[in-house]
Amino acid sequence: MARNKIALIGAGQIGGTLAHLAGLKELGDIVLFDIAEGTPQGKALDLAQSSPVDGFDAKLAGTQSYAAIKGADVVIVTAGVPRKPGMSRDDLLGINLKVMEQVGTGIKKYAPDAFVICITNPLDAMVWALQKASGLPRHMVVGMAGVLDSSRFRYFLAEEFDVSVEDVTAFVLGGHGDTMVPLARYSTVAGIPLPDLIKMNWTTKKRLDEIIQRTRDGGAEIVGLLKTGSAFYAPAASGIAMAESYLKDKKRVMPCAAYLKNEYGVKDLYVGVPVVIGAKGVERVVEIELNRSEQAMFDKSVEAVRGLVDACKKIAPDLG
Ligand code: APR
Repeated sequence: MARNKIALIGAGQIGGTLAHLAGLKELGDIVLFDIAEGTPQGKALDLAQSSPVDGFDAKLAGTQSYAAIKGADVVIVTAGVPRKPGMSRDDLLGINLKVMEQVGTGIKKYAPDAFVICITNPLDAMVWALQKASGLPRHMVVGMAGVLDSSRFRYFLAEEFDVSVEDVTAFVLGGHGDTMVPLARYSTVAGIPLPDLIKMNWTTKKRLDEIIQRTRDGGAEIVGLLKTGSAFYAPAASGIAMAESYLKDKKRVMPCAAYLKNEYGVKDLYVGVPVVIGAKGVERVVEIELNRSEQAMFDKSVEAVRGLVDACKKIAPDLG
């Protein structure tokens, strides 16, 4: 059986780490695409030279040509620019929106059957734009945010309780970062929900609120430490987990920015919700009932996403 083909659009910090992880996990052959000449070629060659040491077989190539992504099974998009001092969110939105239009056109032409995972920020709006620009079926285009947010939440909880990260599950909804909606009653340690753990004196409501806030600010905390860029190891690991669930038809239940057609009462918008990812792409949206405060947080998050998408529609009316 031929190997799968994974195309990575954007060969920066996250793109390079995605390629490394995809190699180590032997997910398939890897093509790195970037507009920066030499960068994807250099990273591909460096990674290929690590394969004999680590013992993985994968073809790695770097390119400036979309033709090289032809027939990719999975495309992971990190192309774009991060925010720099003095730039407004709208500036970033406008620049990355143009990037999504270019990338979408490339995917439409050369990889129309791929499962596409968007990581570029502002995530919930960029995945919307990428789906519009590529014209791919909506269940084949998703955004990576919730896996990262819930992984951060799980890590902080495991640290708090001094238990294995493997035994902590977290359930998050909504947009990426600031407007993330953590659902404490569906987040557990070995099946024990967080509110019960408060009753058992494992933690306090106050500590839990602090952990939730730290999770929401997780990206900013890392930008503050790195100063020259944003997080890349955990975002890449999260993107790879989604790609693996698709390629291996694992049908994992993961929080992703998925297109909603009235689930959770939301229409025509990408919002973070739990979905099943298998060989058919997004195979199911998991819809749960929210209590009043959860619903209020979710509504706020949806409004923030809608605001960003409306800004995109103003800048690029053709997409809308
Ligand atoms: N087409 C292809 N690649 C592009 C384009 C484009 N039009 N514009 C920029 N790039 C490339 C850059 O050359 C760079 O190599 O995208 C890459 C982005 O890499 P980094 O700047 O290292 O950013 P990274 O940390 O990987 O994050 C990428 O993901 O989490 C988000 O906010 C983050 O939007 C950012 C994206």
